[in-house]
Amino acid sequence: MPDREEIVTLTLNPALDQVCWVDEIEEEVKIRAHGSSFEPGGGGINVARALHQLDVETTAYWSQGAETGHMMGRLLDQEGVDHHPVDIEATTRVNLAVFADHNGDRELMFNMPGAPLTADEVDRWLHVVDGIDARFAVLSGSRPPDSGHIYGQITRQLTRRSKVILDTSGPGLEQALEEGVFLAKPNREELIALAGRDAATPSGLEAAARDLIETGMAEIVVVSLAGEGALAVTDGGSVRVDAPVVEAKSNVGAGDSMVAGLTRKLSGGFQVEEAVRYGVAAGADAARRPGTELCTRDGVRELLAGTTLHRSLP
Ligand SMILES: Nc1ncnc2c1ncn2[C@@H]1O[C@H](COP(=O)(O)OP(=O)(O)OP(=O)(O)O)[C@@H](O)[C@H]1O
Ligand SMILES: [Mg+2]
Repeated sequence: MPDREEIVTLTLNPALDQVCWVDEIEEEVKIRAHGSSFEPGGGGINVARALHQLDVETTAYWSQGAETGHMMGRLLDQEGVDHHPVDIEATTRVNLAVFADHNGDRELMFNMPGAPLTADEVDRWLHVVDGIDARFAVLSGSRPPDSGHIYGQITRQLTRRSKVILDTSGPGLEQALEEGVFLAKPNREELIALAGRDAATPSGLEAAARDLIETGMAEIVVVSLAGEGALAVTDGGSVRVDAPVVEAKSNVGAGDSMVAGLTRKLSGGFQVEEAVRYGVAAGADAARRPGTELCTRDGVRELLAGTTLHRSLP
């Protein structure tokens, strides 16, 4: 049996992101890009990349499909991110992100659905997950289409040995929560979609997060609130962390950077408050960077002092 790992991430529906830069995003004209690159993407892949930038090494488990999958593997190797591909037959999806220099922070994101996993591939994933022995397992990103109850099955296996940190939406979020996770990080819209319109007010949002704790679905719920920071609820109470004021350039990567920041501190043995402050600063650092750029260690350190913590006792 190999040594126990500290942190792994799992990405069932990764994407090779083609990122390009244009002067302006305009309709009905030929838009010429003046720069473009390929980047590895998808929830857990980005969390692993952000953790790498924060000097924390992980193993990223991900579905690797055909040529685009191989390209993504090479890009991860070049970045120095340790990874474990799970082979699938279909081609790893390619998403397109278009960023404009001149018209403010306009961006266009085209996210493809990704390939369904075959029954054999689901078994392959479950076999791989069965072999994972890590203190923290970050399950992040969308579910492949038509993949049934796979987030529930995977979470059930992971929770035997790992503290599961969950960042997904829709049925995948519901399935995983039913198994009980260590930490869930919905954003405001994801929590409203899960809990209903009552969660649309500040007190309703907190009540919805608390409900997840009381029903055993999560030990910690961190609701990310974009430029407003985050709300964290545990059975010991709740805290609000205001985000530092930054000149936001692109929200892309903010959520994944936040999850990386949270995971780094929790794995370092810090209290929830400290982890949430660090996560908020990491998200803000990604938001102030252009395009798909994730947080950096120096950037997070710089922003940490600009976060404010408000505690409300139970
Ligand atoms: N404009 C901003 N200013 C300051 N901080 C921000 C801003 N946008 C995001 N953040 C930080 O990043 C964190 C995550 O952002 P957000 O709530 O948008 O996540 P998300 O909706 O999951 O994002 P993603 O689209 O990447 O999944 C926030 O909690 C906050 O700390
Ligand atoms: Mg998100």
